Amino acid sequence: MRHLREKIEQRKKQSLYRHRRFLESAQSTQPVINGKSFLAFCSNDYLGLANDHRIKAAFKSAVDRVGVGMGASALMLGYHASHKKLEEALAEFLGRSSAILFSSGYMANLGVLSSLLSRHDSLYQDRLNHASLIDAGRLSRAKVKRYQHCDYQDLQRLMSADQSEYKLLVTDGLFSMDGDLAPMAELVAVAASMSAEVMVDDAHGIGVLGKKGKGSLELAGLDQQQVPVLVGTFGKAFGTFGAFVAGSDELIEMIVQYSRSYIYTTAPPPAIAEATLMALNLIQTESWRREKLQLLVQRFIQGAKQLGLSGSNSVGPIQAVMLGSAEKAVEVSEALWQLGIVIPAIRPPTVPENSARLRVSISATHTEQQIDRLLDALADICKRVDNET
Ligand SMILES: Cc1ncc(COP(=O)(O)O)c(C=O)c1O
Repeated sequence: MRHLREKIEQRKKQSLYRHRRFLESAQSTQPVINGKSFLAFCSNDYLGLANDHRIKAAFKSAVDRVGVGMGASALMLGYHASHKKLEEALAEFLGRSSAILFSSGYMANLGVLSSLLSRHDSLYQDRLNHASLIDAGRLSRAKVKRYQHCDYQDLQRLMSADQSEYKLLVTDGLFSMDGDLAPMAELVAVAASMSAEVMVDDAHGIGVLGKKGKGSLELAGLDQQQVPVLVGTFGKAFGTFGAFVAGSDELIEMIVQYSRSYIYTTAPPPAIAEATLMALNLIQTESWRREKLQLLVQRFIQGAKQLGLSGSNSVGPIQAVMLGSAEKAVEVSEALWQLGIVIPAIRPPTVPENSARLRVSISATHTEQQIDRLLDALADICKRVDNET
């Protein structure tokens, strides 16, 4: 076990050691940690639905009717009427033929890429795609090529030298650590000119982006024909748990037949599907949440600009404050913690070397005063840290 200790010590020496703080309250902008209330900017509960009373009521009532555990995989009588109802509602909301539920976004990405691709195919990934897509690409055995972040010309250059019969391009819709948007229209145009298909993982966009909350494809005005594979997750704007893939009937049937992370795992609890159905209803009817979120995001962006903080090119709820070294990111995060504000430092290997940052995530349930409190704290801390160096 000595090599394990050495590996752990190495993380500590490089300021890359991670520890888990535990939450003693519901997920919220003001969570209780170690018996103390904090102001937090670190959940993906962008619309403030994770503790919503209507979603909780839907969950409880479903538990009373259909129990907790599904007790079987989907193909072994674990496919419940509640799952089917949610799949149909998602497909209708997103203007797609069909949808299928997965237990998590990580599993959805593994399931789709490994069932769609073989070793004769090519997979094109944005360099900053989420880890689950990177891992899924490896598992698929396809030839993987990574293009520069959001650089569709680089994509075109790589694709034009490719003789593979089937080419798939996959990108985050809204990038998870930088919060910027993929240039969907340009990516789709390049893919079309090269006879490649497109898949979007819109884990952070669905619910949040677009007037109707349909995500980055609504913003870009793209449909199922242009982007045949769409992945979304419920653990973020929906405030629940799990994920889905939406597309043609053939795509969904292919997943049922071939996707190992769909077939060989216990199906999600049906009560989660009922709670998620309620969340979908709120996403559609309570557009004020998206509007309020956008106001708060704009307030943060303008304040950060006035302070001269270096950010990413984001107009969404994920705002990066770029700090460079892991040491500096940890120092700023610790200083915020001392002031009762929680924002974890994001460091390699989650992000590339020398791009450590604070990942500020904003929710519709934050207030303007809380955004200002964060900006004031950042102004003081960053000035002090810069003077020390
Ligand atoms: C872009 C993206 N895809 C997939 C996932 C994984 O989703 P889940 O947390 O449901 O496994 C995440 C999140 O953590 C993500 O950011």
